[in-house]
Amino acid sequence: MFRIDRNLTADDLDKALRRDVAAGLTSTPKQLPPKWFYDERGSALFEDITALPEYYPTRAERTILERRSDEIADAADAEALIELGSGSGVKTRLLLDAMRRHGTLARFVPVDVSGDFLAASAHKVAEDYPRLDVHAVVGDFEHHLGLLPVRENGGRQTIAVLGSTIGNQEPGPRAAFLRDIRSVLRPGDTFLLGADLVKDPDRLVAAYDDAQGVTAEFDRNVLNVINRELGADFDPSEFDHVARWNEKEEWIEMRLRSRVDQHVRIADLDLEVDFSAGEELRTEISAKFRKEGLIRELDGAGFALTHWWTDPDGDFSLSLSAAR
Ligand code: AVJ
Repeated sequence: MFRIDRNLTADDLDKALRRDVAAGLTSTPKQLPPKWFYDERGSALFEDITALPEYYPTRAERTILERRSDEIADAADAEALIELGSGSGVKTRLLLDAMRRHGTLARFVPVDVSGDFLAASAHKVAEDYPRLDVHAVVGDFEHHLGLLPVRENGGRQTIAVLGSTIGNQEPGPRAAFLRDIRSVLRPGDTFLLGADLVKDPDRLVAAYDDAQGVTAEFDRNVLNVINRELGADFDPSEFDHVARWNEKEEWIEMRLRSRVDQHVRIADLDLEVDFSAGEELRTEISAKFRKEGLIRELDGAGFALTHWWTDPDGDFSLSLSAAR
């Protein structure tokens, strides 16, 4: 069974991009939200990143799922799995297989902003799991959680946010996001969260500034997106990729640093922007977590942590929490 709801149109996305670029390039310091990295090329570059020797999070999370998915499925005891930001699907299938073995799973609700990608991957899941009711939802899960097809009555539900996607948000929006997740669940429902952990800064920086320069290309790709979508004339080669560990906030920051004094025109916004040599545009934060801090954040949103798993090296965490 397969269905897809579209809560986000191309026009909505265009408006959001215009708003973000206009606000971000006229603020001091300049910044852009990371969600605009992911056009076709950006998504392919991200897939390449996940295979880099320096980028451990994807492998570490997959290792946990390979070892623990049956424990997770037994603890969640879910009738429905709702996955926010479903990615390429390898990890999803480990979870779906375990939940199917557990025997209660009837519904899968993958949610993603990228409609084409989601339609293709969710359709494949529906083919491979013929007894599963697959209900895909195209939407921005930071804004559209209220539109999810959540059962009023029926069995337990699990919301999964994997891949350390949560790390892209600053603490304020993150707290609001966790409360929104809690608000679509009922007591006893569960929340499965994949979160990257604080570790040696050298390893963290290397994970976001790899030797082959794939992450640098990924970072600069946001300028290609703005050129194409908004008629801008950025020269990406005039920007250096910078990855820095922010010790106080405990997050990695990615920045694009202008190599020269330059002037950029964003035609569709009628906007002219100056960059001085050395000026930096922040393109992403990737927060890293500690167990105690996460427990506190989850508690503040109405969740009680019940399980905590890491990979053997202790690099990455998966946690399961129950809605109170
Ligand atoms: C997809 C947001 C989890 O923060 O590690 C990877 C994105 N950026 N390399 C992350 C990313 C640079 C990634 N997330």
